[in-house]
Amino acid sequence: MTDPLPSKKKRDQPKQALAAQAGKAHKEGRQHAAGSSGVFKLLSAFVLLAAVVVAYRHDPTLFTDFLDSWIGFSEHWEGSQPATSTNNPVHLSADIPKRNAVVAAFRHSWLAYEKDAMGDDEYHPISHKGSNLTSAGGIGYTVVDSIDTMLLMGLEAEYARARSWIADKLSFERDGNFNTFETTIRVLGGLLSAYHLSSGDPVYLDKATELADRILPVFETPSGLPHPMINLAKGVGVANADFTGLVSTAEVATLQLEFRYLSHLTGNDDYWRRVENAMRIIKSARLPHGLASIFMSVDEGQYVTSAIRLGSRGDSYYEYLLKQYLQTNGSEPVYSDMYEDAMTAIHNHLVQKSTKSGMTYTAELIPEKDASGEVSWRLTPKQDHLVCFLAGSLMLGATKTGALAQSVSVPPRDKELTPSGRRDWKTGVELLRTCMSTHDTATGLSPEIVHFRIPSDGMDHNSMAPADWYIKGARQVFPFSMSFGYELEHFACFASPGEFPPYDARYMLRYVYVFTYVQYTDTNGPSPETVESLFLSYRLTGDQLYRDHGWNIFQSIEKHCRLSSGGYATIVNVDEVPVRHEDKMETFWMSETLKYLYLLFDDSNTLPLDKYVFNTEAHPLPIFQPSVRTGFS
Ligand SMILES: *[C@@H]1O[C@H](CO)[C@@H](O)[C@H](O)[C@H]1NC(C)=O
Ligand SMILES: *[C@@H]1O[C@H](CO)[C@@H](O)[C@H](O)[C@H]1NC(C)=O
Repeated sequence: MTDPLPSKKKRDQPKQALAAQAGKAHKEGRQHAAGSSGVFKLLSAFVLLAAVVVAYRHDPTLFTDFLDSWIGFSEHWEGSQPATSTNNPVHLSADIPKRNAVVAAFRHSWLAYEKDAMGDDEYHPISHKGSNLTSAGGIGYTVVDSIDTMLLMGLEAEYARARSWIADKLSFERDGNFNTFETTIRVLGGLLSAYHLSSGDPVYLDKATELADRILPVFETPSGLPHPMINLAKGVGVANADFTGLVSTAEVATLQLEFRYLSHLTGNDDYWRRVENAMRIIKSARLPHGLASIFMSVDEGQYVTSAIRLGSRGDSYYEYLLKQYLQTNGSEPVYSDMYEDAMTAIHNHLVQKSTKSGMTYTAELIPEKDASGEVSWRLTPKQDHLVCFLAGSLMLGATKTGALAQSVSVPPRDKELTPSGRRDWKTGVELLRTCMSTHDTATGLSPEIVHFRIPSDGMDHNSMAPADWYIKGARQVFPFSMSFGYELEHFACFASPGEFPPYDARYMLRYVYVFTYVQYTDTNGPSPETVESLFLSYRLTGDQLYRDHGWNIFQSIEKHCRLSSGGYATIVNVDEVPVRHEDKMETFWMSETLKYLYLLFDDSNTLPLDKYVFNTEAHPLPIFQPSVRTGFS
């Protein structure tokens, strides 16, 4: 029997060679058929069809792969239009008008900040004022966070002014308590990426080294996990006032890219060893299910029974597992092991489908105690917008830790991925689709938190019930103070049994109110996570769908968040038009959201994914071959 499908070896050949072969086979077939009777033609058509059916039943991927390599399309990717399916890096060219529109938005933001609040940590675009994180004075939060975006966008005049502010005015001699994680990802990360993108301007490395040296004392704790706060002038770590003895898992596991790159640049291994030690502690604290609780004990270096989620306080732990592996060019297998272990646990426990249309989302696990103090876990169908980072991360991870070869096609073909790579890619694509559909609101912007329908939610009795997801309490207002937000996390976290009240219906009710409040303050238009995933997925697939969606988000931001007097503002409720603005322009708007939008529309030769890894605040850092050897396994 003839095998109508190319052999495995042939399928790996470049597209052109394959097409030539296909053409040759076709011609031979025609010569043969020309001399045959109609019955014979019919018979050979039947044999061919039977062979295809047998082969398909034997291994369906043979068939999709054949289609994939031959006509550049496989139904597996559901509607995507891959740019090509050769095994070479694919060039995606810039969409210049859209890219320029993003640059204009950046200038509209920066110039307003510069006029009203230059040098202040944060900007309030409605009152045209700046403010600092502490009364001890600013640490360049906004300027440093924005400067690499200017370098990328080629905004030379703005860049020159920002650079001289950093050289002349930036000081870390501030007697106040700063968040270790935020200062590292925004300020240290911003300085390091500016150092790289400016081809080594020493101003940035000097400042980065000074800042890192001031932060290092946070690691002087019984376990070696860093304190959540740092007094930069005194150089002392400060414990968490709200959650005594606790640190967020994401916060201790999201300092590594920055300190490791600084170590690589300066040759000082101390930076490396300190942050690596936090990863070693996390690995040895592994829970049987393989997931990370959002809090750890700073004394014992163990997980504390607390919520398990991929959103706030959990998110970037998973992100940095993959990125640490990428940062050192795949030379530290311990991180791909930890990453794959975590992704498997996520698939086993958290990945869910919505009831009506099967939208993929990730749920949270909330610990509950019964009267005897026994802990059980309740699966809650709530997803933070922050989780949308995971979509792109899963897709990127699939092409690296889940790839059978050094590089894969754009988009990757099934045969190029390991089983877990295929699983992660599929979940990433589906999760991104869910994140895109949560933009289906009155403003076209996504809420901070969405809830998914489950059969036990009792909403089916209501004819107005949403099909798949909803914003909890978005149309009610509760005048609760922010302290409830903290209390919420106390409930979700009990350090020792009996310390906090167990959950019951009453607390659940309050829980709902708390979320209502959180949505009112935190719901914000220009959140970067979906945009980050759109950028990654566009680079990994070449699918125009992702650019189109990014453009829609950008248009919604232009429409609802842009202030004609300058700057952009957070909005209070994404599902309410006309919008109400909050007097705040987040620093991640200029560092992350606009950078990823710019890169989405830029040429793929800018910051290629095989040479750069982005920190969690979108500061690109180069991939390097480390001279330090991983200190744990
Ligand atoms: C922020 O801190 C800087 C540096 O100390 C100071 O010059 C500036 O006035 C402060 N801004 C505000 C709004 O207090
Ligand atoms: C990463 O490894 C690959 C394959 O070993 C190599 O070709 C490439 O140059 C390395 N990249 C860096 C930045 O070291």
